[in-house]
Amino acid sequence: MKKIRMGIVGLGRLGLKHAEDLAFKIPNAELIAVCSIKKEEIDYVQSSWNIKYGYTDYYEMIRNAELDAVAIVSPSPVHCAQIEAALEAGLHVFSEKPLGVTVEECKLAERAVEKHPDKVFMLGFMRRYDPSYAYAKQKLNEGAIGKPFLLRATSADPEKAVVGAIKFAATSGGMFLDMMIHDIDLARWFLDSEARSVYAVGGCYVHKEFGQFGDSDNACALMQFKNDTMAMFYSGRTAPHGYHVETEIVGTKGTLRVGATPQKNLVTIFNEHGAVQECVSGFPERFEQAYLLEKQEFINCILENRRPEVTVYDGTKSTEIAYKATESFRENKLVVID
Ligand code: NAI
Repeated sequence: MKKIRMGIVGLGRLGLKHAEDLAFKIPNAELIAVCSIKKEEIDYVQSSWNIKYGYTDYYEMIRNAELDAVAIVSPSPVHCAQIEAALEAGLHVFSEKPLGVTVEECKLAERAVEKHPDKVFMLGFMRRYDPSYAYAKQKLNEGAIGKPFLLRATSADPEKAVVGAIKFAATSGGMFLDMMIHDIDLARWFLDSEARSVYAVGGCYVHKEFGQFGDSDNACALMQFKNDTMAMFYSGRTAPHGYHVETEIVGTKGTLRVGATPQKNLVTIFNEHGAVQECVSGFPERFEQAYLLEKQEFINCILENRRPEVTVYDGTKSTEIAYKATESFRENKLVVID
């Protein structure tokens, strides 16, 4: 079996998970190189999993002639430069979201992808590969709820992960770019249109620390799309009950919901607290399968010379919308997108 030889940059919260999938769970991928600016992360992964190459310098890693492809799971502000350099080095590229934290750097990434049409580029909007979201899209396409006109999205991280989120806030790009962007991508996908205008509000209701970065701990946005459909978004970082991701699509003939109650599993515990259904703990648990399936699709695209559904343009569009939402939130005004 032909195996795609992969390198990965970033071995943090998500990078380690991607690295583990590539090393052990995707049969036609082989993880041969890991990179992080933290030497201890490289040492841990290399010694535990017997990975051949370790680098503290990304640009050195992509010069390794044994590599076919790279996965970029580094902080968001360095994605675009790393994408461009990897494509120039002749590698296929999988990059985590967001594509970039400014529209200008996204355009640079677009140009790099266009310059290398023989290389596969894929952006990690993994929710599209989650079996429930993929099924919802299939049902929508089959006309199960008629013509969709409203998307309502909730994405809330658990309060118990907030210390990490505060640490991450300086480079995350903020609530809209870091978190709501998943729902923005879903809205574009399900409503089949681009946002025309946005009004966003929010605040630091529990953790004032986010304020020093011009960020919020809970925020909402209302958007109108160019095909006259609508979307309502709520994103937060302080859910006491766990990781709450829920999406509702309302159409002319019905309503479709994904994750209506973010239950951990089908178990109910009857005790002194009542009939208790535990909540999903965080993104690695809720989207474990989606993270695996998206990377399998990336590898299959390379092997079959296909292009993934999620493109660099999805990255630019979603960044642009998230950026406008941030502007709306900071300036407290409705922002027209085009
Ligand atoms: P993290 O802060 O936990 O890890 C970042 C990693 O990158 C660390 O290993 C760090 O040493 C390394 N690094 C930093 N600068 C570097 C550089 N210049 N060169 C090489 N390595 C460098 O961050 P986390 O949470 O893993 O996020 C990484 C990316 O993944 C972000 O872009 C984030 O938006 C995205 N992400 C996506 C999620 C999704 O659901 N698709 C969920 C969580 C994160």
